Amino acid sequence: MAARLTANVKAGGCASKLSPKILDQALRSVPRMTNEHVLVGYDTADDAGVYDLTLPGGAPLAMVQTVDFFTPIVDDPYTFGGIAAANALSDVYAMGGRPVTALSLVVFPGKGEVTELEQILKGGADKIHEAGCVILGGHSISEDEIKFGYSVTGLIDPRRILTNTGAKPGDVLVFTKRIGTGVVSTALKKGIVAQEDMNASIKQMLTLNRHAAEAMQPLEVHGCTDVTGFGLLGHAREMALGSNVTLEITASSIRYLPGAIEYSKAGAHSGGLHNNRDFVESCVYMDPGIPVEIQALLYDPQTSGGLLISLPAGEAEKFLAAQTEAYVIGKVTERQTKPLEVKL
Ligand code: CO
Ligand code: CO
Ligand code: CO
Repeated sequence: MAARLTANVKAGGCASKLSPKILDQALRSVPRMTNEHVLVGYDTADDAGVYDLTLPGGAPLAMVQTVDFFTPIVDDPYTFGGIAAANALSDVYAMGGRPVTALSLVVFPGKGEVTELEQILKGGADKIHEAGCVILGGHSISEDEIKFGYSVTGLIDPRRILTNTGAKPGDVLVFTKRIGTGVVSTALKKGIVAQEDMNASIKQMLTLNRHAAEAMQPLEVHGCTDVTGFGLLGHAREMALGSNVTLEITASSIRYLPGAIEYSKAGAHSGGLHNNRDFVESCVYMDPGIPVEIQALLYDPQTSGGLLISLPAGEAEKFLAAQTEAYVIGKVTERQTKPLEVKL
């Protein structure tokens, strides 16, 4: 029996992200290139970049590119591969694109078990293929801490790009998954997780955002982002700042994964959760009546999380009719004192 995949991991999944504070600071001194073909760059902390491929006189076409890889968040290698793939594909879906090609990024110990690597790659490939996307190749590095993921390229109509900067006052905020993957995985690392709670979290992490993205296609959507490493409030912050509005989120309307509240109460908080809170907190008005374990969950790094969508109320109704797992978590207002307001 091989060692547990998560045993030597300092932080699992998207919780292994570099702190946003450090990243923000480092990026400030990096020279910016401007290019007329770049439709979406990294200035607005958007999910992926978009490059215009339209030829003179040709049909409008653009390419959306993203990369995501991380440490094991579960012990089963096949499942880990699948989650890493679903998570990497998600940024293409969040922008309204259709994934077409992928390159794998593999960091695996030179003395590791080949069957384990085989299962990671297989789980990833099966998920990439489920998305109707093909793997063109990849790159590997020999190192002790396992990491895995993909760079994904998609195609998109340049007139229909969804970004995180278009939210408008009066919009409804819809979310498509439950919150708590980070807390549940931290509970796994602490050895306090119930198997059925872990399974529910795994099932959600393996769910592609494909259907949610397809349901948005015919609708008037103002803004969209997927909620991943920076947590619900971290990604909501980017949308609020980019759109120059305030997002008003109702804490009691948010749905959590089974066990998540209990594990949060028991202190199953990753380092990533604390980093997110440190970085985002100053942007948030938090109603003091909200229980601390719920407050923490709003900063919990999500792996392969749901889409946060800002759209007019009438369009939200149509979306919710097509996506029964999705639900309303708040609304968009003119900018208030804080870009984020969390109400009871
Ligand atoms: Co994203
Ligand atoms: Co990403
Ligand atoms: Co190479």
